[in-house]
Amino acid sequence: MTQNNPQVSIILPTYNESQNIVNILKLIRENIPKGIYAQTIVVDDNSPDGTGKIVEDYVSSIKKIAENTIDIIHRKTKNGLSSAILNGIQNAKGETIVVMDSDFSHPPQIIPKMIEAFKKYQCDLVVASRYITGGNIQGWTIKRKLMSKIATTIAKKGLGVKTNDPMSGFFAFKKNIIKELNFDALGYKFLLEVLVKTKGVNVKEIPYTFENRKFGSSKLDTNIIIDYFKSVFKLYKYGKISEKQEGRTSIRFLSKAGRFFTVGASGLVINYLVSLLFADGISNLWYIHATIIGIIASMTTNFILNKVWTFSDLNFTITHTIKQYGKFVSFSSIGGLLQIGMVFYLVDIQTLTYPISLIVAVGLAAFGNFILNKKLTFKEKLWN
Ligand code: GDD
Ligand code: MN
Repeated sequence: MTQNNPQVSIILPTYNESQNIVNILKLIRENIPKGIYAQTIVVDDNSPDGTGKIVEDYVSSIKKIAENTIDIIHRKTKNGLSSAILNGIQNAKGETIVVMDSDFSHPPQIIPKMIEAFKKYQCDLVVASRYITGGNIQGWTIKRKLMSKIATTIAKKGLGVKTNDPMSGFFAFKKNIIKELNFDALGYKFLLEVLVKTKGVNVKEIPYTFENRKFGSSKLDTNIIIDYFKSVFKLYKYGKISEKQEGRTSIRFLSKAGRFFTVGASGLVINYLVSLLFADGISNLWYIHATIIGIIASMTTNFILNKVWTFSDLNFTITHTIKQYGKFVSFSSIGGLLQIGMVFYLVDIQTLTYPISLIVAVGLAAFGNFILNKKLTFKEKLWN
């Protein structure tokens, strides 16, 4: 099987994991679901125990039989777990990102369940959770358990997070949900930052049992606990600021809708002019053919204007753009059909006049179109 783009990128931060890394890479490989092409990215911070070199050697030893790839990012110094994760994400080619530890605390057997959950539960973020029914922790001291509980409570009460295990280091998400975000990437709690900054995203939790590592040692120290409080404080402020901006959110939503309707109106003009041009002007085509050309022309200009102006999307990669164009045209066609149905209903069943019915039907169809394209074609959150 030769595919050139991985669908899933698995991020694996390492610091002194020489005794774990090769075995965890093997076990991950065994647990990549059939038919899925995955890229594993090890992010190593120049581990003194030689983890980086071990990965290099392992990768070159398996190269010839590998169909799923393993990449390694070498960073110069120990820069923290969250920042390593962020670095991995920035280099990820997959649409789906899985983040996990490399010390066997996060069982790779859960990966297929996480990947399956996106479709099954229509969600964009999957959290492997210790704190829901079926989840557990093995091998932690009472003290560490207590710290985890306290940190979890702070996140839930203080930041209003609904997820039961916001401290989990084991999670997966669709890359597009973080595309407009900036991260502090302080300390250990990358997931918490994602949860706070992606409000409105569908989250699904899957239970798993965390098993304390057998080899090597945890890197969680006092500095990381201090970083935790810093990051909670920052996220708290972030929440306050975005609450203030909520007011502005409605303005942004309305101005986008306004642009979408303006583009629609310009489409009508283009449709009319191009059809006339082809029927009488340049080529004397049969009027049905001219009409079809007019429709295609206006759908295309509508698409380009909405992409660039309404939704400020400047990504013109060929496959991406063609996919978007396909969706845009489908929604427009569905909108057209709905409009016909609605006019019929309003005129014939509700006995409204035709002009009034037409205004209502065009308005509703255009709004529906706006919502569908915002969410599905240009992948924006509904409300922003
Ligand atoms: N590159 C890099 N740089 N990797 C790091 C660093 C760093 O500075 N610090 C830690 N790591 C890597 C470790 O090598 C390991 O693979 C993973 O990050 C987790 O580090 P541990 O030190 O083993 O963390 P833990 O077991 O105490 O806590 C983990 O599990 C908790 C429960 O899911 C973390 O994932 C926590 O975030 C999580 O809450
Ligand atoms: Mn660990």
